[in-house]
Amino acid sequence: MNFDLKTLTQTSALSHKTDLMVVAIKTGENKLPASKSGSNHPVLSQYLREIQQEESFDAKTGKTLLILKPLHVQAKRILLLGVGDATQAQIRKAVNSCFSSVKSLGYKEVTLYFDDSFQGFEQSLKHSILAISDAVYLYTKTKPSAKLDHASLSRASETSTKGDKKGEYGAPSGINLVTIAHSGAKSASFKQAFAEATALGEGIELAKEWGNRPANYATPTHLGQVAQNLGKQANIKVNVMGPKEVEKLGMGSFISVAKGSSEPLRFITMEYRGAKAKSLDPVVLVGKGITFDTGGISLKPGAGMDEMKFDMCGAASVLGVFKTLSLLNPADLHVVGLIPTCENMPDGLAVKPGDVVTSMSGQTIEILNTDAEGRLILCDALTYAKRFKPKAVIDIATLTGACVIALGHVRSGLFSNNDALASAIQEAGETSLDTCWRMPLDDEYADALKSNFADVANVGDRSAGSVTAAKFLQRFANEFAWAHLDIAGTAWRSGGSKGSTGRPVGLLMEFLLRHSKISSKVEKTK
Ligand code: BES
Ligand code: MN
Ligand code: ZN
Repeated sequence: MNFDLKTLTQTSALSHKTDLMVVAIKTGENKLPASKSGSNHPVLSQYLREIQQEESFDAKTGKTLLILKPLHVQAKRILLLGVGDATQAQIRKAVNSCFSSVKSLGYKEVTLYFDDSFQGFEQSLKHSILAISDAVYLYTKTKPSAKLDHASLSRASETSTKGDKKGEYGAPSGINLVTIAHSGAKSASFKQAFAEATALGEGIELAKEWGNRPANYATPTHLGQVAQNLGKQANIKVNVMGPKEVEKLGMGSFISVAKGSSEPLRFITMEYRGAKAKSLDPVVLVGKGITFDTGGISLKPGAGMDEMKFDMCGAASVLGVFKTLSLLNPADLHVVGLIPTCENMPDGLAVKPGDVVTSMSGQTIEILNTDAEGRLILCDALTYAKRFKPKAVIDIATLTGACVIALGHVRSGLFSNNDALASAIQEAGETSLDTCWRMPLDDEYADALKSNFADVANVGDRSAGSVTAAKFLQRFANEFAWAHLDIAGTAWRSGGSKGSTGRPVGLLMEFLLRHSKISSKVEKTK
């Protein structure tokens, strides 16, 4: 799928040739302007308002009205799209549902038009592009028939079934090009917003795609290859370690999780450094990369276990961020990505409840439950992060079912030892509409992790499960500003629309681009 940004005024919109012109309409804008004789009110809005009044189109979010043979314009079809009060959330929702329906109707080129009344258009532009890329994404890797089903819906005889040759994944939608049009599209800030949103759309798509791939198509080795591929870009450095190197580093906790699987573990390091970031300490992102979580010897129940293929969505989000960085090439950012990745399997060699392992930090851990494996791979990565002298470390993990109980599928859980970092991340979540909510880290919660046989146990009792998990991680993050995002409820959807969401790539990129400077000014929490 390609995007274009075009300057169209009310007048030039009339002569714009396109298969379908989607016109965003706010509620309360269907009143005809007071009729002045000789009024030069632009004919497009005049015409559309007449139709709205005739059809009582109320422009509520997501409502549409198709005009088959529109007068006055070169567009073959016009689709009025209600965006309510035009908040960013309403625009995102309306554009997403509109393109979900429109994508299979056989239009090759679609224009999304916003008139002058849309102020602060940069944000609307970004959210529109993200909403469209989300809507047209199609998973085909292990379901090639999805492409054919899709193509058969297309009515244009010349419609290609091959889809997008340029993009790496998915989206063989009938639509080849979406043009976003607005009267001020020439300005530098619009161009910047456009570049950001298209790069972010591709990062999110990569995260979704790898989240969706089944565990036999997305092994630790495969994730290593995805990183190596990103490393072919001049601005990204990648290093992928296997079991031997990880053993040498002393990552006894990480290794204990991988022991039950025949798939060899990988530890991935990626580094992006912008042209003006020579002396800048990095933000380090750590992504949980359990490519399948059976629970290990503390085996999970069978129902819904397939969804544990999504247990590498933290890792996928870090890969997505690096895809976006490689395309956008921001000058003043230094970012390191760390991904510990392996399977959690039951086996004769698997780690057992009660086993004590020694983490890279030197702390010993009593593994009371082998299903609490995420924290066991993350703790060694957090220790490893120290060597980059990070100004902040953020780990991203589908860590606890308890977080889903606490926050559902709307907000990710946010935990941090640093108030400024926490507010910066929370704010980035609000603007990117990829929201999170801060959770507590009182020391009393750590009491649950006391062990008679090791420095710390890997689980507490059932209460406050997402907090005790974070308290475990915090022990390995004392020397830097640290935040932990529990994305167990937000990284994928279950049920009929089962699939990865690509979250929190949007939040992380927003944080990196506009909020990450804040944490360098901040005293590290002791
Ligand atoms: N990957 C799971 C967390 C998870 C569970 C995410 C369900 C999404 C939905 C994690 O490794 C896990 O199994 N956590 C256990 C921890 C428990 C043993 C303390 C959990 O949440 O049940
Ligand atoms: Mn688990
Ligand atoms: Zn897990």
